[in-house]
Amino acid sequence: VMLLPGPTPAKAFAQYAGLTGTTPLPPRFSLGYHQCRWNYNDEGDVRYVHGQFEALDIPYDVLWLDIEHTDGKRYFTWDSFKFPKPHEMQQELAATGRKMVTIVDPHIKKDPNYEVYHEAHSKALFIQKPDGSELDGWCWSGSSAYLDFTSGHVRDWWASRFAYDVYEGSTETLYTWNDMNEPSVFNGPEVSMDKDAKSLAGVEHREWHNLYGMYMHQATAMGLLRRNAAQDKRPFVLSRSFHAGSQRWGAIWTGDNACRWDHMEASLPMLLSLGLCGITFSGADVGGFLGKGGGYDDPDAELFTQWFQVGSYQPFFRGHAHHDSTRREPWTWDEATTHRLRRIAMRRYQLLSYWYTLFFVSESTGLPTMRPLWVSYPHETRTFDNDKQFMAGGDLMVAPVHQKGSTSQSVFFPGTAPWYDVLDGASFDGGTEATVDAPLD
Ligand code: GLC
Repeated sequence: VMLLPGPTPAKAFAQYAGLTGTTPLPPRFSLGYHQCRWNYNDEGDVRYVHGQFEALDIPYDVLWLDIEHTDGKRYFTWDSFKFPKPHEMQQELAATGRKMVTIVDPHIKKDPNYEVYHEAHSKALFIQKPDGSELDGWCWSGSSAYLDFTSGHVRDWWASRFAYDVYEGSTETLYTWNDMNEPSVFNGPEVSMDKDAKSLAGVEHREWHNLYGMYMHQATAMGLLRRNAAQDKRPFVLSRSFHAGSQRWGAIWTGDNACRWDHMEASLPMLLSLGLCGITFSGADVGGFLGKGGGYDDPDAELFTQWFQVGSYQPFFRGHAHHDSTRREPWTWDEATTHRLRRIAMRRYQLLSYWYTLFFVSESTGLPTMRPLWVSYPHETRTFDNDKQFMAGGDLMVAPVHQKGSTSQSVFFPGTAPWYDVLDGASFDGGTEATVDAPLD
């Protein structure tokens, strides 16, 4: 048990950062808008989505490819029918400054003809059963083996898989998404591995479960760093699983939320809590991941717009959707909604330098970029249980609408100085609570 005596919030963050580290300044593009979906179907689809952002003048930086881009969920490969020319595709996006992210999960399809499996198997890099044989688990790729990321030489090997001449079809503008790294095993206890599965060092899964995701995140970030060492380029890796210290390796997101108002609302306490734990480059799937097909309704224009607004003031801003949900890119709505979404995205970009500065400050001080009100107002007891509002840095307060149909919002203004509405300049006295107009715009 470590005691962090503070006494101020800022000092407690610095003390905790001294123990677990901070997030190195992320590449600037990664603070822009990310467009994801399970899945963008093929190169034509990618071209279409990219072209729509361009034609409609909606800013975005990164287009994401989920598991279907691979050859049968064999990570580091491409479906040669749907994505025959990954180089050209990435170069087309890169020509306008855009990046791509592909997903690379830790379960490796047990197929002797799959080079990644073959090599890892012959080098014995996989987690083992108690009897020392290779563990077998079921995940997206069917029967799979799991790399032992707790082992340094496995991380080293994994990092080498990202080299441009090894990860074929990858270019300098391709970054990485690590998912299912809890590790997720569909047919295992609690959808994970047997507790007595063994690392190569002979340590049982029950001991390192919470570390597995962080070590994978680290190994991937090392891979991107290494392949770009000559250009001194920073990595970008998103992970679903994380632990104290994961902030050193990149961003995380909160996993499979649903298209529900209360899930949007829950993103605030979730991301705020993560920030207090040092993990500041974080976000929740904007719009909600599980819609139709996941047992929920798809978001309507109102929920999607509100969520896009909330997400645009959170550190990692990515729209994502389950494959059974209706398409929901910014132009798939009525014209007024598309117009609103464009304006929201543009506001994010107006504040991009502000976010970049917040991340610089966070790297050097441990202060989270997204903060509860009490970080700035530790003497105001009314801020202590307020997780309906939050601060983006120390200068912007965000008070999202949490309820369907609301056109006004009760807002608490902490401190003694007046507050100003960024849109119309209206002022509110510090230390008061007021009901403010909150139309969709
Ligand atoms: C998991 C992820 C989700 C992803 C899906 C397919 O459910 O959390 O984001 O789209 O797997 O890869």
